[in-house]
Amino acid sequence: MTAMQPIGTGLDVARIRRDFPIFDRPVQGKRLVFLDSAASAQKPRSVIDAERHVYEAEYANVHRGVYWLSQRATEAYEGTREKVRDFLNAAETREIIFLRGATEGINLVAQTYGRRFLGLGDEVVVTQAEHHSNIVPWQMLREEKGILLKVAPVDDSGELDLEAFERLLNPRTKLVSIAHVTNALGGVMPVEEVIRLAKARGITVLLDGCQAVPHMPVDVRGLDCDFYAFSGHKLYGPTGIGVLYGKAHLLQAMPPWQGGGDMIRSVTFEKTEYNELPWKFEAGTPNIAGTIGLGAAIDYLGSIGYEAIQAHESQLLAHAVRELSKINSLRLIGQPRHRSGVISFAMGGVHPHDIGTILDHDGICVRAGHHCAQPTMDRFGVPATVRASFGIYNGRDDVDALVAGLGRVQEVFQL
Ligand SMILES: Cc1ncc(COP(=O)(O)O)c(C=O)c1O
Repeated sequence: MTAMQPIGTGLDVARIRRDFPIFDRPVQGKRLVFLDSAASAQKPRSVIDAERHVYEAEYANVHRGVYWLSQRATEAYEGTREKVRDFLNAAETREIIFLRGATEGINLVAQTYGRRFLGLGDEVVVTQAEHHSNIVPWQMLREEKGILLKVAPVDDSGELDLEAFERLLNPRTKLVSIAHVTNALGGVMPVEEVIRLAKARGITVLLDGCQAVPHMPVDVRGLDCDFYAFSGHKLYGPTGIGVLYGKAHLLQAMPPWQGGGDMIRSVTFEKTEYNELPWKFEAGTPNIAGTIGLGAAIDYLGSIGYEAIQAHESQLLAHAVRELSKINSLRLIGQPRHRSGVISFAMGGVHPHDIGTILDHDGICVRAGHHCAQPTMDRFGVPATVRASFGIYNGRDDVDALVAGLGRVQEVFQL
């Protein structure tokens, strides 16, 4: 890259990096090239400050205190619920459940909706490109209830085979649960089509939105999905906080999952009455500061805007695919037509861990492994891949650093 080339395309990447304290200091003596946001994104100062502010100035437990400080904390906590409602365009705040993350959201649906409404021989459809957190909870339900898990194939580019998906749908299909964007390949799934096909048959749909929300606006009402799960830490927010959206009538019909404080209206040893939505699903003291930090992350993203984020990212991805494709020994794993945030690849016979280690010496952070998507690796006949994933602080200079680093991998392994 020459000094004259902008590092951003539509986004002022240099300014955005200044919002993230982690970029202030070198890593291994090098400029930090962070290409692992799909695993967890870095945090802007406003999120860090929001959490610190809670503990320094507005901290108390929520929903219980009659005193001002507790009411203030409750307002901030519940205020975030309204922010998330607006963020997802949900109809009501009671449809927004705060949990630890997407994993917990999917498990909640499996353990409450699944246990209550699915039985022997009922079918759940996932795809071949799911994260383990959208596979294992259904397998656990299979062991407990005797449901069947059906897997819709993806083709060589990582695209869902919609015809094969449709063929799997039958009167026993009770739930379709798929990633909005796949984490190992970065493919944007045709969720509108999937939902249309499922809804025409009265099938409930859960979308795993972990890899979608950092990159594109999501409108749960426009999509008409029944459940939508995501994690705050991939959205530039804190760890330990995530969201499950569910349509109110479904959440109401579902039994609570965990029992304890906050999720009850009244308790005697003979009988307990559960709280109303959304608190019915929020047993115990919640992640108060993390929730408020998530609100700050949503505000921060809002100040940048998805239009600018998407315009920048599509140019950045095109640049990355073009440059990586020039490397002889490099094979892109999956070439989805609609790609978001992620590029996966293999190089010669070199193990991705070796590639990741060499890149690390240059301050370049990529993910090397199966990305919690072993069935996806099996589908593409590789044990693991290198995954470069992009956030709003990545620019062309990061792609160019990656390409230069891969040049060193070629030298070392004489590819
Ligand atoms: C598509 C997808 N679903 C679910 C998860 C699980 O998210 P968490 O570990 O934050 O619960 C991830 C995390 O990588 C993911 O990428």
